[in-house]
Amino acid sequence: MVDKDELAQHIYCSIILEEEVAKAYQKISEKISDKEVAHLLEFIAKDSFKHAAAFKALNAQLTNRTDYEECGTILGAAWAHIVEEARRYAAREDAVTLSELRKILRDFENYEGYAGEEYLTILYAELIKLLANELGLDLQKYKVILEWIIEDEKRHSELLTLIQNKINDKLG
Ligand SMILES: [Fe+2]
Repeated sequence: MVDKDELAQHIYCSIILEEEVAKAYQKISEKISDKEVAHLLEFIAKDSFKHAAAFKALNAQLTNRTDYEECGTILGAAWAHIVEEARRYAAREDAVTLSELRKILRDFENYEGYAGEEYLTILYAELIKLLANELGLDLQKYKVILEWIIEDEKRHSELLTLIQNKINDKLG
């Protein structure tokens, strides 16, 4: 049984994750000199900021019981690891070479996998349960928006594969 507070807490943790990941993509896109690759990374960054905005809108309907520490408890070490690592990338000051980007993209692929296969799947299941139990809440539209976000995450994985292939071509 999921209640509004639990869903709101989960969404709050999702907002943090999406924002930190977005900032990491954004910063790496600014530090890469290859324009094609930079703009593809920027595309994913913008999507991730957009996802955070959608979650904020959803949370504005729910209660605002939010606790940062609880994210580690409910979403576990994977969530905490990604948030911490993404923050390091967001603080990056030096230029990023294409060969280093190859390695960074493996971490980004991990973020996309975590988003698509773990936290969004759980979030979706929680939203469905809440929809079934709390008929008074107007969450039906958010179910559709969450489906869009899940689709976006699949596209992000495809884009990362495309970028990896581009790098392989460029580096030979
Ligand atoms: Fe994503």
